[in-house]
Amino acid sequence: MSKKVLILSGDGIGPEILAEAIKVLNVLSVDFGLDIDLDNGLIGGAAIDAVGNPLPDETLDKAKEADAILLGAVGGPKWEPLDIANRPEKGLLKIRSELGLFANLRPALTAPQLVEASALKPEVVSGLDIMIVRELTGGIYFGQPRGIRELDNGEKEGFNTLVYSESEIRRIGHVAFKAAMKRDRRVCSIDKANVLEATELWREVMIDISKDYPEVELTHMYVDNAAMQLVRTPKQFDVMVTTNMFGDILSDLASMLTGSIGMLPSASLDKNGKGMYEPIHGSAPDIAGKNIANPLATILSVAMMLRYSLAEAEQANRVEKAVDVVLSAGYRTPDITSTGMKNVGTIEMGDAVVAALKG
Ligand code: IPM
Ligand code: MG
Repeated sequence: MSKKVLILSGDGIGPEILAEAIKVLNVLSVDFGLDIDLDNGLIGGAAIDAVGNPLPDETLDKAKEADAILLGAVGGPKWEPLDIANRPEKGLLKIRSELGLFANLRPALTAPQLVEASALKPEVVSGLDIMIVRELTGGIYFGQPRGIRELDNGEKEGFNTLVYSESEIRRIGHVAFKAAMKRDRRVCSIDKANVLEATELWREVMIDISKDYPEVELTHMYVDNAAMQLVRTPKQFDVMVTTNMFGDILSDLASMLTGSIGMLPSASLDKNGKGMYEPIHGSAPDIAGKNIANPLATILSVAMMLRYSLAEAEQANRVEKAVDVVLSAGYRTPDITSTGMKNVGTIEMGDAVVAALKG
């Protein structure tokens, strides 16, 4: 039976980069026998404009039925005047939460061809291979109470709640340790246990879980130090496991070690391995519609989707190989270019990957 993939293009550069990912999926089905069915849904600002809701029920229903979801990005200045509860980002947070996609895997891998594109020295980043495991459906992003209230003196006060239950920490911890077992068997848990009780518990639970994985070395780092260490000696890390907000911040930071945020894919998985796949970058409204966005993070997200949710490891390898070939041939979108390279736009980059796939 064909596998169902739901495409949620979203806003900004979302539709452009998704168009290139779809070209890749089409080649896999026409030329390499991948059996999938693509459907589309509305999310984010596009959904607000069409039906007044950043996550329409129809989209959520389709997402629940799909075997995997491929997402572009959401948000943009057009919707910033809306209050937080009705913004495009709410659509993304709601789909993550409704589908129980608590495990966000954000690999930061420096392609050898892009070592020069990093802002850091080549020796610091070459061969970098980190897996950031970010908790995605809890923490301060979802904690109650939250809001903006007026105090007795008439002043306004904004408040959010950082809360983690033991079971939430436990399940993301297991994902991290299992990932480490397939890698270099090292987990660094990132917290702020010197200040925040929620992450004091985080640390305790990580220590407890580590007893189930005697072959994995567990270390702990405060998040401020982790940010510094990521820039100083990023290769010291194998798997990093952390909270929703710390993971949001550290994964953007880690992406620049690899040359460009336009290169990094991600997977958000539920307890059964069903997932949503998206580039870690945002909707980049400033460059939308200009044919300059890098589609490779999305194309590499397709590879993660094939591997993690569709059990198509061979097809995943095929996509990753094609990206490698294209980078070796010198194709570069503006975010990763350097002198002597073949400067191309979004569409040409997608075409180059398609050509590499076809061989
Ligand atoms: C990400 C993004 C989202 C997040 C935004 C768009 C809500 O920054 O996926 O990293 O904060 O999780
Ligand atoms: Mg982010």
